[in-house]
Amino acid sequence: MTNIALGIESTAHTFGVGIVDFNGGTLSIVNDIFKPEEGGLHPALVKEQHLNNFDIVIKKAIEEANITVHDIDLIAFSQSPGLGPILKIGAIVSRLLSQKLRIPIVGVNHCIAHIEIGRLMCQIEDPLTLYVSGGNTIVSAYESSRYQIFGETLDLAIGNMIDSFAREVGLAHPGGPKIEKLAEKSQKYIKLPYVVKGMDLSFSGIFTAAKKLIESPEYGNSYDLKDVSNSLQETAFAMLTEVTERALAHTEKKELLLTGGVAANKRLQNMIKYISEEHNARFEAVPLRFAGDNGAMIAWTGILKYLSQGGDLINDTIIKPKERMDKIPIPWRK
Ligand code: ATP
Ligand code: FE2
Repeated sequence: MTNIALGIESTAHTFGVGIVDFNGGTLSIVNDIFKPEEGGLHPALVKEQHLNNFDIVIKKAIEEANITVHDIDLIAFSQSPGLGPILKIGAIVSRLLSQKLRIPIVGVNHCIAHIEIGRLMCQIEDPLTLYVSGGNTIVSAYESSRYQIFGETLDLAIGNMIDSFAREVGLAHPGGPKIEKLAEKSQKYIKLPYVVKGMDLSFSGIFTAAKKLIESPEYGNSYDLKDVSNSLQETAFAMLTEVTERALAHTEKKELLLTGGVAANKRLQNMIKYISEEHNARFEAVPLRFAGDNGAMIAWTGILKYLSQGGDLINDTIIKPKERMDKIPIPWRK
């Protein structure tokens, strides 16, 4: 039997466990997701939920994989970036498992894991990646032993911007899929701030302007939520597309990968697919099951890291809440 890794995702709202074999086969994925009743992610509440549920999630993932705990050969966990108190839960649980089972442990960068699971699932070798989620908006590609960042947001992440707007208009978290549905019903475009600075993006102006369109009496409530949703998506996604296209022209990559939770959006997929075709690049969007945060992406990236440089020393498993992905060497891609 091939070796097996258990991966723990614990950076923000999701406490996720994925069990993956060393050939890249997924045996199970179990997620427990914190959903705020109102407002954003309150770290203390998320922490409480994860602490209450982590053992059930691990147990369920092992059961669904149809293995016993003794079949696990490697523990991988999300070491960076994320909310400190949440990262700590995954790190502590992983260290305990590793020591109890006497198996190696590796820490993994969450953003790199989103890229690696995309490469695996889409059978793609060397893509330019647009990674769009609640906490990140990054255009990246592999160059000089690193996942270099070509463009990123200067303020809000795209998913967070859409979720925040949705919350303002009374839609429950996560707002992304609901805004997508509303936007599909509209053809109308209302101009919103389009802010691209060099290769970086700013979404806070769109958020403020869209909110005003809905709220302000001087507009006489003439703007329908579906039209504002459409305009918000069109503006934000056009900005993402512009920066991604320029990175594609610069890097001359022949593959383009769309990953992260917002990769589920069909309109964004179509826009990115269009520019890929213009540049003769193969377009792939990560399958839905692997698009949002999950433990399988952590397990798989842990396997890649372990096979190229072995396990981490326990002293090196300290969490790194602010670590940037472009600082981390990628030995498995030589
Ligand atoms: P990260 O930690 O990588 O920043 P995350 O914690 O936000 O990620 P993900 O599960 O990767 O978690 O992404 C969640 C985001 O994806 C939310 O902002 C959600 O609204 C957004 N999303 C999900 N489906 C859609 C969709 N169809 N259209 C737009 N946004 C979507
Ligand atoms: Fe994520």
